[in-house]
Order: sequence, then C-alpha cells, then structure tokens
Amino acid sequence: MLILAIESSCDETCAAITQNGGVLSNVVSSQIQLHAEYGGIVPELATREHLKNLVPIARTALREAHVVPSQLDAVAATQGPGLPNALMIGFKAAQVLAFVLRKPFFGINHHEAHLYSPWISGEPPVAEFDSFQPNVSLVVSGGHTMLVHVESILRHRLLGSTVDDAAGECFDKVAKLIGLPYPGGPEIDRLAAMGNNKAHVFPRPMLLESNDDFSFSGLKTSVRYFLRDHPEVLNNGQQLRDLCASVQAAIVEVLVAKTIRAAKRVGVDCVTASGGVTCNRALRQELASACEQERLYLRLAQKSLCTDNAAMVGILAERKLLSDLPSTPIDADITSSWSLH
Ligand code: KG4
Ligand code: ZN
Repeated sequence: MLILAIESSCDETCAAITQNGGVLSNVVSSQIQLHAEYGGIVPELATREHLKNLVPIARTALREAHVVPSQLDAVAATQGPGLPNALMIGFKAAQVLAFVLRKPFFGINHHEAHLYSPWISGEPPVAEFDSFQPNVSLVVSGGHTMLVHVESILRHRLLGSTVDDAAGECFDKVAKLIGLPYPGGPEIDRLAAMGNNKAHVFPRPMLLESNDDFSFSGLKTSVRYFLRDHPEVLNNGQQLRDLCASVQAAIVEVLVAKTIRAAKRVGVDCVTASGGVTCNRALRQELASACEQERLYLRLAQKSLCTDNAAMVGILAERKLLSDLPSTPIDADITSSWSLH
C-alpha cells in the first residue's frame, strides 16, 4: 500500500512516501534559519515558505521513492493542531491530489502521529508494530508537552499536558535570555554537555504533584531572576555552561520523573518518547537509565523522526486504512486546535 503523506503544521515542510510499514522517502525542508533571524516562528513567513516548498518537496519525495502519483493508494496530511495557514497549505494540496487520483484521503492528528514515531526505526526506517506494547508516551516539542496512555495501536488517552510553556519553549526562552540563537534547545544541549548540572538548583515545577500535567513558565522566570542577580555569568564561559546544565537538569528531571510515575501508575511495561526535545542527549540518557532501573522497555524516536516529519503521518494513515477506519471527507477543513482528548 503506497501512501504520500504531507506535514506542514509548523515550520517544516515535509513529504514522505510509505509502503507497507516502510518509509521509502522522508523529505524535510526546515525553516529554522529563516525564523532564527526573528528569534522565533513568524507564522506569515512560515506560510510563504510552505507555499514555495511544498511542491518541490513532494516531487523530491516521489522521485526518491521511485514512485509516480498514479501508483498511490492513498494520500494523507496533517489536519491539526498547528498554525492554521501553514496547515491549510499541506492539507488542501493533499486533498486535491486525492480528489484527482480518486484515492482515499486521511487527515491526521499531528500528536497522534508522534505517538507512533518511536516505533519507526532503522535506515531506511520501518514501522516495527510487531513489537508494539501498550505504553505511556511522552510527546515533547516546541509547542507541546504531553503524556499519553497508548492502550493499543490507534487507541489512546491523554493523561496530562502543559498548563503553560512547553518544555521546548522553556529551552528556547531560557536560551534567548542567555543570548543564544534560536532554536535554543540544541544550543543548551551542546553547552550543558560541558557544564556542571549541580552548579545551581532551579525549581522542578509540578514534580511532586500527583497529576500528569507540566508547567515550565516558572522555571524560565527563575532563570530570569537568577540572571538579574548574577549578570556576570553571561560573560564567563564555564559559568554559562554550568547554568545551561543546571536548567537542563531541572527540565529533564521533571519530564523523566513524571513519565516514569505515569507508566507505573497506569500499569504499562513500556515508555516511548518523541518530539523535538527528545533529541536532547540528557533526556535520552536519563530516560534510558530510569527505564532500566524500573525495568520498563523504552522506545525513543530516532533523531531524524523526533522532529516533525511526514513519515509518521504516512505510517499512521496506513494503520487507519488497514483497520478500515473511515477516510476523511475530501472537503474537510483543518482543525488547528485539535486536541488528543
Ligand atoms: O517537534 P519540534 O521539531 O517542533 C514542534 O513541533 O514544536 O520541536 C522543536 C523544539 C524546539 O523548542 C527546540 O529547541 C527543541 O525542540 N529541541 C531541543 C533539542 N533539539 C530540538 N531541545 C533540547 N535539546 C535538544 N537537543
Ligand atoms: Zn511535532
């Protein structure tokens, strides 16, 4: 079963061809450099870039997979959540293609797609659903932080999410306070690797609360106050690295502790993680050691599939098609604030 999938919910224009659980091509055009100039995502610029890049990216995905449109069995695209105009470009283009080809169309929830990206691995990537286990999944990106109980393939329940800033947002905002370029997560990761993560103790928001929600805006504020009181840190390389390591340790500890606690409470033997922040080396290490200690099976999305991509959209669409779930109407609209609830 051949599927062309498109993802354009935020600042990456992505197209992928998937076939029978395998990823034949997965092309991503990132807009990071464009938005870096403004210190964050500018929706209007994102829209224009999607308009410019979508057709060339889709063409590249088809060419790399040695597939022509008439061979496709279905077309899929992210329906939401995301930036409305950005979503609309990929979604409407995919609908038109499905209409012209007279093939089924699947509008996919971006976060639901993230839930399955940890099961896609290897080079070329293949979905390993034979080893699927019910799990608690941590989805951590620039805009979202959530814990989801994935009871079985295509069946999930949102356990909790952030009440204010997402973890990625916290990395990015702290990086901005320090004067690091956007996106700040990878920069903090890089500097933290050479720092002492016990140099400073920053708050671990909601760590001890018994719910599965997160809050990171207070942590960002405490870094702002710290810098107000210790401005000299910004001019000292090692002190800056220690600060990055200490902030990162606070974010990672909350994410890991709440994920493990949710997994044990829900009674699953497996934990998964995806989303851009899952590229963070400390998060990957700490999740691995916590899962080993608690005898939980851990599936981390491979780095190329942590960030936004269309492969996860195509793989999920194929599962829906194989499960005889209804396709999405060809005139359906985007759902820009589509929650996993
Ligand atoms: O999933 P993603 O690519 O885009 C969204 O849908 O938001 O995630 C982007 C986020 C940004 O906040 C970025 O700073 C963060 O992921 N990120 C990282 C790392 N790589 C990306 N955060 C911490 N450490 C990293 N290595
Ligand atoms: Zn995402």
